Amino acid sequence: MSEDITKPDPKPEIEDARIPVYIMGKRYDVPPSLTIMKAMEWAGYVLVRGVGCRGGFCGACATAYRLQGDPKLYFGLACQTVVEPGMYLAQIPFFPAQRASYRIEDLAPQAATLFSLYPEVLRCLGCGACTKACPQELDVRDYMAAAMRGDIAAVAQKSFDCIMCGMCAARCPAEEAQYNIGILARRLYGRYLAPRSEHLERRVDEIIEGIFNADIETLMAADEAELRRRYNARDIEK
Ligand code: SF4
Ligand code: SF4
Ligand code: FES
Repeated sequence: MSEDITKPDPKPEIEDARIPVYIMGKRYDVPPSLTIMKAMEWAGYVLVRGVGCRGGFCGACATAYRLQGDPKLYFGLACQTVVEPGMYLAQIPFFPAQRASYRIEDLAPQAATLFSLYPEVLRCLGCGACTKACPQELDVRDYMAAAMRGDIAAVAQKSFDCIMCGMCAARCPAEEAQYNIGILARRLYGRYLAPRSEHLERRVDEIIEGIFNADIETLMAADEAELRRRYNARDIEK
């Protein structure tokens, strides 16, 4: 039977769908399934800044956008956010926030350390603009409140998922460098306050003593089938 060439194939129609987005003020009609990052590349931009891991981890692709007819300002990661019709996009690959220089070995895990390296901590107004801007949905105002109390452990824990994108600093009326304050707290916590892992230290000593040398040599000599067998038979922690 010959093919009915008058009947349209629905698939190309879906594939051909386009929606308008505005990149640097210029309209482009892009496929609706793309992320902002892919839409920019689809439109012909070669990304040198504002791109890194492409997986939502590095914070290089912070993007502010508005939707047509909506006064609200939205924030997202270009590599994770799918385009919507009428998006007006602005990439913010870098924000010039204050960053203190220090050697972590020379610091004490105390409130005074936060306040001396970042005196502006105490200027936080509690407005919450930082929290609204965070594409990681962190409660930035809350970790800044912990910083004002000098609670290093709380800042470290509450800012743990920060990817240093800079959006919070871009919106802050008190000119805070929230993410740099957060990473200082995480460094202080990691070096001085986190409970030491005694079993890890014991295991490192055992490795240095050579207790596992024979096992390692056996593994090095094993063929792929034996390695697979051992891998599948390994103890899996519940
Ligand atoms: S935007 Fe700035 S002033 Fe407002 S809550 Fe966040 S850190 Fe404080
Ligand atoms: S806390 Fe600030 S720098 Fe960190 S992910 Fe959120 S907006 Fe980005
Ligand atoms: S490119 Fe790394 S978070 Fe988007």
